[in-house]
Amino acid sequence: MASVLVLNGPNLNLLGTRKPEVYGRTTLADVEEMCREEGGKLGLEVEFRQSNHEGQLVDWVHEFGAEVKAGRSIGAVFNPGAFTHTSAALHDAIEGASLPVIELHISNVHAREEWRHHSFISPVARGIVVGFGVLGYVLALQGLAQLAQEG
Ligand code: DQA
Repeated sequence: MASVLVLNGPNLNLLGTRKPEVYGRTTLADVEEMCREEGGKLGLEVEFRQSNHEGQLVDWVHEFGAEVKAGRSIGAVFNPGAFTHTSAALHDAIEGASLPVIELHISNVHAREEWRHHSFISPVARGIVVGFGVLGYVLALQGLAQLAQEG
């Protein structure tokens, strides 16, 4: 069974309690459960990870780039959190490792502060899901699976 990485960046471990008016009350453990259920339907094994550290995220992007090259994974759904708006390193990692990435944001970043409107990740993403709440994780998995099938 091919794998799919669901990757979460800084502060997403606080999902459910952090700014619930923006991010909702669903916890990251609930999101993991939703992703595993959707993965089951799509015939994909979900690898679910979260880190508050940029270098750790870079390492995991490299790891899964190699998994995709080896034909064992279809890519990643990635919520980079605030690193979206700051990280040239994650941009370069995704590009360098040729990892197919669906960039995901729970909130509609374009309806928020100006500094959230720019993304270092979007230019190297295959697709982007923004503003659907945690349902976005399911939509992103479906989209990535569809893109992988099209080849
Ligand atoms: C976020 C949006 C980012 O601007 C923010 O820094 C996050 C979460 C989202 O899912 O809406 O941490 O990526």
